[in-house]
Amino acid sequence: MPLLNNALEIQQEATQWRRHLHQIPELQYDVFETAKFISEKLKSLGCDDVVTGIGRTGVVAIIHGKNGAGPTIGLRADMDALPIVEATGLPYASKTAGKMHACGHDGHSSMLLGAAKHLSETRNFSGSVALIFQPAEEGGAGAKAMIDDGLMERFNISRVFGMHNLPGLALGAFAACDGPIMAAADKFEIAITGRGGHAALPHQTLDPILAGSQLVTALQSIVSRNTDPLASLVISVTQFHAGDAFNIIPQTAKIAGTVRTLQADMRDTAERRIKETAAGVALASGVEITVDYQRYYPVTKNHTRETELAMAIARDVAGVKNVDAKFPPMMGAEDFSYMLEARPGAFIFMGNGDSAGLHHPEYNFNDEAIGHGVSYWVKLVETALA
Ligand code: NI
Repeated sequence: MPLLNNALEIQQEATQWRRHLHQIPELQYDVFETAKFISEKLKSLGCDDVVTGIGRTGVVAIIHGKNGAGPTIGLRADMDALPIVEATGLPYASKTAGKMHACGHDGHSSMLLGAAKHLSETRNFSGSVALIFQPAEEGGAGAKAMIDDGLMERFNISRVFGMHNLPGLALGAFAACDGPIMAAADKFEIAITGRGGHAALPHQTLDPILAGSQLVTALQSIVSRNTDPLASLVISVTQFHAGDAFNIIPQTAKIAGTVRTLQADMRDTAERRIKETAAGVALASGVEITVDYQRYYPVTKNHTRETELAMAIARDVAGVKNVDAKFPPMMGAEDFSYMLEARPGAFIFMGNGDSAGLHHPEYNFNDEAIGHGVSYWVKLVETALA
C-alpha cells in the first residue's frame, strides 16, 4: 500500500495552501503572515496545542495519539523565502517584489499541514507528534533559535525528522544517506593593512594587493596539501576588494570566502591553516593581516537507526526502486543540522522532478509531490510511534 488512501484528496487541499503561501513570501524571522496562516490552519485542523513565537516566529503544533502514552517525535518544515525576483510567470506568483519562495519552503509547510490534517483526524499512533514550523532556514539559523528557546525540552521531543524537496530527483522518489548528508558552512573575512603610496614608488609602500594575491594562492594549498584526498574540504575565496585608482597602491585590502566540509574536524583544520597561512604571508610581506573565522551551520549528520527507519518508510510509500539510501552527500548546508546535533534523527530529500534548481528565479515547488510527502510523514509517525 504505497500512498495514503486519501493522499490525492489531501494533496488537492494542500495545493491551495501552498499556492497561497507562495504568494506571500517572507524573509528570515519576519514570517509573520506565514506563521499566522499556518497556526490558524493548525488550530482549525484540530491539533491539541498550537504554540507560536518559539525562536521568535516559529510555530509548534502538538497532536496526541489515541493509543496511550509514549514518546514525542518532531517533524520539521521551514517557512522562509528568499530575496529573489520571481520569474515563473505563474498566476499565483509572489505578490511581493523581490521576495520569492525559491526553495520550496511553501511546499514543505503545506505538506506538514497536510500531515496535520490526517494525523489529527486518525490519531493512529501512541505518544505525540510535534509539528515544527521554523523561520530563517536561509542563513538565519532559525532551527538553532527554536532549540535555544527550549524546543526539545519544552515538548519532550526524543527524535527529529526533516525533509527537503530536490530538483532533478524524480517525482515520487526519495533519497538520503547515513552519516553526513550536507556540509558545514563557515565564512572567513581577512583584512590586510599595508602602507599606501604612489604606484611609481613601490619601495616606499607595503602593498596589500600583492600580499593578498599571495595569500589567495597560498590558501589553495590547504585543500591540496593539508587535506586527506579522501576527506572533503572546499575553501573558496569569493571576494577581493582593494584600491580606487590606477596609480595608487592602496592602504588596505579585504578578502572573504567560505569553507565547506562533511567532516566536523576539518573545520578546525581549515581555520587553523587559514590563520597560519595568513600569518606567514604577513611576516613575509610586512603587512598586517587579521582573520575573522565565523562558524555557521554544522554538518547535517544523519543518525543510523533513524535513517534506516526513514528509508524503510520511503520504500513503503514510493517503492524500492524509487528510494536511494546511499545518496551522495551535498556540499550545501542546512540548519536542520542543529536539530540533528540536539536529537537523533534523519533528513531526507524528496523528488521535485525536472524543475529549475533551488534558489533559481524560475523554480517552483511541484504540487504533485505533496501526496508523497504527506504519506511519508503520516506513515513515519504511525511506524515510529506504533
Ligand atoms: Ni531550503
